[in-house]
Amino acid sequence: MNIDGTPTRTIWPADGAVEIIDQTRLPHEYVIHRLTSLEAAAEAIRVMRVRGAPLIGATAAYGLALAASRDAGDDALRGAGDALIATRPTAVNLQWAVRRVLDLLLPLPPEQRAAAAWREAAAVCEEDVAQNRAIGRHGADLIKAIAARKMGPLNLLTHCNAGWLATVDWGTALAPVYAAVAAGIPLHVWVDETRPRNQGASLTAWELGKHGVPHTVIADNAGGHLMQHGRVDLCIVGTDRTAANGDVCNKIGTYLKALAARDNGVPFYVAAPGPSIDFTLMSGREIPIEERSAEEVTHISGLDGEGRVSTVQLTPTGSPAANPAFDVTPARLLTGIITERGVCGASRAALAGLYPERL
Ligand code: MRU
Repeated sequence: MNIDGTPTRTIWPADGAVEIIDQTRLPHEYVIHRLTSLEAAAEAIRVMRVRGAPLIGATAAYGLALAASRDAGDDALRGAGDALIATRPTAVNLQWAVRRVLDLLLPLPPEQRAAAAWREAAAVCEEDVAQNRAIGRHGADLIKAIAARKMGPLNLLTHCNAGWLATVDWGTALAPVYAAVAAGIPLHVWVDETRPRNQGASLTAWELGKHGVPHTVIADNAGGHLMQHGRVDLCIVGTDRTAANGDVCNKIGTYLKALAARDNGVPFYVAAPGPSIDFTLMSGREIPIEERSAEEVTHISGLDGEGRVSTVQLTPTGSPAANPAFDVTPARLLTGIITERGVCGASRAALAGLYPERL
């Protein structure tokens, strides 16, 4: 996608290292961060310099390439995979990417492993881009159909950041937005701020702005009110892990938006590339929910009056805070799931119909 007219991805190999956009610095600073070791890749995932399920997977794949360049022995690679998987528990793409790369590397002679790992990490990235483009095409058809039934710009609501910053390129939930805008459909995006880490306010707003897509940031609690007043035509969100029955785990607060959408007859879609679907889990109740630091709730960062980024405390000193980072939206609340293979209902039968080889 474009940053001030320059096509840019979120991760790329660079002279034996890997470069990423440091998302902890956005939206106020645009900083390229260099990863030169497995440990640096794991740290980038853990502290969320990179985040979003597909991008976490891509970073893990490159993390294994960095590890294999240092020590391509069985024990070293298995240890590297374990270290990467331990960084964040919810997005299944992380485990998927680690298993994919290790399954390829371990049967190879050690001297061939590093080169194969770099090739496979690049393939993971290219496949992600292709999947997201396809999600964009399918989702844009939905947007076109809804836009054709109304006067004026279509109002779409999204939660968290499932845009190009959450993937290698294009995004999942926002790929249909970019494809629809490219097709000349007038639309406007309501951007949930997404407390506590504010991925909507800081990342979604930034990338939509850089790409020239009209948008408005709203407090997380505003969505239900806007839906009651007919100001949301469609919701599209991403997913960190979708169970075989169509239950969808995504950023905390997604469930409440789905409830409000159902109560107000607003279509609610989830954009889910194949690697985000976990056919080993029968329902969303089995998905591990990450608990993050209370400090993400008690403190907030932003630009101060002097234009410096600073962090302040929001809550009374000593008040405990809890920070479950994801929730599960039951399949019954979804209108459909947008995959790279087409749009389907949120059910085991519908997902199995699109991915028969994974059962
Ligand atoms: O905690 P994050 O920022 O990694 O959470 C990201 C999300 O919840 C996204 O919606 C999800 O990963 C889909 S990204 C295409």
